[in-house]
Amino acid sequence: MATYVQTVDIGHFATADEREALTREALTREVRRGLITRPRSLSPWMFYDAEGSRLFERITALPEYYPTRTERAILAGYADAIIAAAHGDRSSPLRLVELGAGTASKTCILLEAASRISDDVAYVPVDVCPDALELACQNVACALPEVRIRPIVRNYVTHPLQLEPFDGTTLALYIGTSIGNFSPEEARLILRNLGTQLRIGDALLLGTDMVKDEPTLLAAYDDREGITAAFNLNILDRLNRELGADFDPACFRHRALWNSVESRIEMHLESVQEQGISIEHADLDLHFTQGETIHTENSYKFTDRSIRTLLRDVGFEIRGAWKDCRGWYTLTLARVG
Ligand code: AVI
Repeated sequence: MATYVQTVDIGHFATADEREALTREALTREVRRGLITRPRSLSPWMFYDAEGSRLFERITALPEYYPTRTERAILAGYADAIIAAAHGDRSSPLRLVELGAGTASKTCILLEAASRISDDVAYVPVDVCPDALELACQNVACALPEVRIRPIVRNYVTHPLQLEPFDGTTLALYIGTSIGNFSPEEARLILRNLGTQLRIGDALLLGTDMVKDEPTLLAAYDDREGITAAFNLNILDRLNRELGADFDPACFRHRALWNSVESRIEMHLESVQEQGISIEHADLDLHFTQGETIHTENSYKFTDRSIRTLLRDVGFEIRGAWKDCRGWYTLTLARVG
């Protein structure tokens, strides 16, 4: 299956032209890797061009897509308790480091709670996308001008974080169930790398979507309005735009399925007919049979037990967990052991 580990690291390059060239190279590598081998797959980082990011924002507001609003409600209800559990020594400074910060819309709830108990709060959003980071910084600066903001443009998967030393407590945030888009091995690697940047007493807040009934899970990844389908199919449009491919998205359909053995939702694009596709800039000519699929995303779902195992394996000790009343989503606070 496609993985983020093969993702592109474009963050350190200043100009838009350089970023565009590097993205095109990464897309070319990825289609050569993923579309020639069987079963075919593409890595989920390819979803997030400007259009894909816009579609993802719409997904988060869909009635069927419960994770975002459920996590927000947990944060709204328990932010003070979470911060208190993470930051025992109220007199010392507190730094919140957020992996994959995106636009930081939910993070403000935690930063507000942090500001209520400490008058020295720093926020370090980390994201591969400079535009998303800019927005995150603007949102936080506007809502909480007293918080010091130190953004880091980085692909934390391919290039593990290197945090500046900090005289206080660090709370790392990995929320939004982003961990679910990685295989268990990749998830361990990411958390282990993060752990190396934390000191005894620092903490991690991990957001995970939980296993639940299949219809609810499937609806969240195959909504009635077709926004998730458009998000999935946008990968083909992106290859047309950026690599000169000739996909007709109408000749593919979005498929979401629950893989109970692996405990994950899978998204695929299925060819509705036999067809030939050429991808000019990657010098590829492909043949799809009817029903053949491209695997585009995994979204792992967790149990209390799998969260415990994951965190224990990477050297964290669980100190608290907060859920919604249906038990659909969990925020787990763990300390460096
Ligand atoms: C970003 N990530 C946590 C989302 C998820 O739920 O796995 C991506 C997504 N894919 C389809 N809908 C949402």
